[in-house]
Amino acid sequence: MAVRDLFITRNIDELVEETGGEGERLKKTMGPFTLTALGVGAIIGTGIFVVIGQGAELAGPGVILSFVLAAITCAFSALSYAELASAVPVSGSAYTFSYATLGEIVAFIIGWDLILEYGVSVGAVAVGWGGNVNEFLKATFDVELPKAITAGPFEGGVVNLTAAVIVLAVMALLANGTRESVRANFVMVVIKIAILLFFIVVALVNFASGNLTPFLPEGVAGVTSAASIIFFAYIGFDAVSTASEETKNPGRDLPIAIIGSLVISTVLYVLVAFAAFGVAPTKQLSGSDAPLATALREGAGIPWAGAVLSLGALIAITSVVLVIMYGQVRIFFAMCRDGLLPRRFAKVSPRTGTPFDLTIVFGVLIAILAALIPLGVIVEMANIGTLFAFVLVNLGVIVLRRTRPDMKRPFRVPGAPVLPIIGVLFCLLLLAALPWETWVRFVVWLAIGLVIYFTYSRKHSRARTGERTELPAAEQV
Ligand code: ALA
Repeated sequence: MAVRDLFITRNIDELVEETGGEGERLKKTMGPFTLTALGVGAIIGTGIFVVIGQGAELAGPGVILSFVLAAITCAFSALSYAELASAVPVSGSAYTFSYATLGEIVAFIIGWDLILEYGVSVGAVAVGWGGNVNEFLKATFDVELPKAITAGPFEGGVVNLTAAVIVLAVMALLANGTRESVRANFVMVVIKIAILLFFIVVALVNFASGNLTPFLPEGVAGVTSAASIIFFAYIGFDAVSTASEETKNPGRDLPIAIIGSLVISTVLYVLVAFAAFGVAPTKQLSGSDAPLATALREGAGIPWAGAVLSLGALIAITSVVLVIMYGQVRIFFAMCRDGLLPRRFAKVSPRTGTPFDLTIVFGVLIAILAALIPLGVIVEMANIGTLFAFVLVNLGVIVLRRTRPDMKRPFRVPGAPVLPIIGVLFCLLLLAALPWETWVRFVVWLAIGLVIYFTYSRKHSRARTGERTELPAAEQV
């Protein structure tokens, strides 16, 4: 087997042209506004409502700078995503870009890696949702659900039913139509932005600047390691690029949505972090499962505002589950359509215009995961997977500029290759700050992927079999 053979690439024009034969084509329903909402829907959730507490533990008020550092890291990669998504408007995001630029084995690894960013993190995000249901019920009605149904077996419970229920509910919504899902997402996005603005106003009114000192209790190193965790809060702007095929004018709308959703989230995050560390001492924030709610309840001393915040967290996290699960299904769909995973899942239901079967399969798998796994290390796994994908997307821009200088690029990263190289360096900085255990788990995960690649994907890859879009009649919807 020649090494070069592993790096076979797919022709971009063919990829675009082939976005679906009969029964494999997704409906085009989205414009710039709904796409930006999709990005904000995927981004703002567990990170700002829950993970900010972990950041506080690592960096104290300095976590405000961690939000800035993580945003800068994302900004470079967002530009690269915008260029590639506008040039290769095919469902599949980083997976498809890599297939067109860096070769099949890299694409497979990225697709496999993205399961960490999307599939696994949805499970964790849902667990966070379940936790917030409890917070809300406790704060508002003084009702507590039994631990047996609110925690998995590794956390002293039996099965985390609340987490599984939200996954299955979102699955039903997604399976039945993108348009309905996008509408529901839009409403949730409006509510979560309003809730964060409410938080900022209440917290700033009750601001006590003494809370901000000492500002850097753990020094600069604390800021960097908190940034490698807080990075989780920004995951999601790239999910916009999984909607390429369902976008009416991808060349223009995708860059607007990717960069726009990141800018909106960054501004909100930095203001929220500043307000949070102004209204409550670090200890209160780091010791809580719902830090923003705690900041208003205990820091500002306004219990009803804390309850509003926990309700807001529920709505915010629901839209994250929605969009990230949507992205996971689209990436897997692209991999199945390319033959790297079983082709029979790459079917679009004529009734709903969505990959119905695949949505159900993923929904059930993620629900099982959410019912059993604890939140703990999953954030780090999602981060390492995402940072790795960002590195390759930045490299993809550089490679494609050389191999296909002629290609139509509705959006171009200014100053390439310098900015994508800086993007890679920032990702490496955060990757290096992640704990070594996370690296070990990541390498094991990739090794499993490679076994699948060499035993299944290589044999069925359409880039090798040369098979075009037509499916055998039995596999058609
Ligand atoms: N950025 C997403 C969140 O914070 C994953 O929930």
